[in-house]
Amino acid sequence: MKTDTTFKLGDFEINRIGFGTMRVSTGAGIWGDTLNKENAIKVIRTAIENGVNFIDTADAYGPYTSELLVEEAVRPFKDQVMVATKGGAVKYKPGAILSNGHPYYLRTAIEGSLKRLQSEIIGLYFLHRVDPNIPIEESVGALSQFQKEGKIKHIGISNVTLEQLEKAQTVAKIEAVQNAFSFKDRRYEAVVNKTTKDCIPFIAHTPVAKNSWDDNALVKAQKENISTNQLSLSWLLNYAPNVISIPGTSSEKHLMENLASYAIRIEF
Ligand SMILES: NC(=O)c1ccc[n+]([C@@H]2O[C@H](COP(=O)([O-])OP(=O)(O)OC[C@H]3O[C@@H](n4cnc5c(N)ncnc54)[C@H](OP(=O)(O)O)[C@@H]3O)[C@@H](O)[C@H]2O)c1
Repeated sequence: MKTDTTFKLGDFEINRIGFGTMRVSTGAGIWGDTLNKENAIKVIRTAIENGVNFIDTADAYGPYTSELLVEEAVRPFKDQVMVATKGGAVKYKPGAILSNGHPYYLRTAIEGSLKRLQSEIIGLYFLHRVDPNIPIEESVGALSQFQKEGKIKHIGISNVTLEQLEKAQTVAKIEAVQNAFSFKDRRYEAVVNKTTKDCIPFIAHTPVAKNSWDDNALVKAQKENISTNQLSLSWLLNYAPNVISIPGTSSEKHLMENLASYAIRIEF
């Protein structure tokens, strides 16, 4: 069994285990500064030095502290890494977030992200959530306008249903989708399958945190001498060639364990 280790987004070849910075770059409740900035920067740089070239953040993480930290961590590697960020969600207190997909709001959001990331263009920009009060076509229409203005290279959408993805595709070229997806959480299987068919990256968020495995799989993991987190990442690598996972960690040991999942050969 051979697993492809990369998938293309435009002309950029993404290594299929990326890095999610939501927890490592913020405080409790994804609020404020991380308590250990030095460690966060070190882990992100170690990830890049070990082949990670896709880093995920959002203006809502902190808010803002994550993007600022990511910019600093990635600065020496700017040309070799794709930084994906998101707008359209407002973090207003620890652990709480609201959607705002109004085009005027999205414009202020993207201008802020460009400044914090110290970039003229964002490689991949996601609509973080669909605002129940704004048709997705309007929010994505705004992203399409920003793309025309040269502020976004690729447009993505996050936390969407199949129906929302199809609506978004009527107003812009959607080049990536980011939803929760794991062995245990297959709510969005139809969305994953659609992205596979359309040949666009599906970014699986929360790939290890909420996983628990059935006995059968646990026996397999034990037999192969791998951890359940590795089992989770290996399952995603095997699921479809366009699935990219973004496990986050504050530990170099966990990081290396996650990256070792590329080498796992297991039949699911
Ligand atoms: N689009 C969205 O709405 C959305 C929502 C949620 C998340 N995300 C993105 O997805 C990324 C990942 O999501 P997540 O942080 O919720 O979940 P996750 O990456 O599945 O899990 C992170 C947690 O698992 C632990 N962990 C990671 N690798 C481990 C290992 N090998 N062994 C033991 N523990 C391990 C980490 O703790 P340690 O620090 O101790 O390793 C951390 O607490 C986020 O950073 C963010 O970029 C996006």
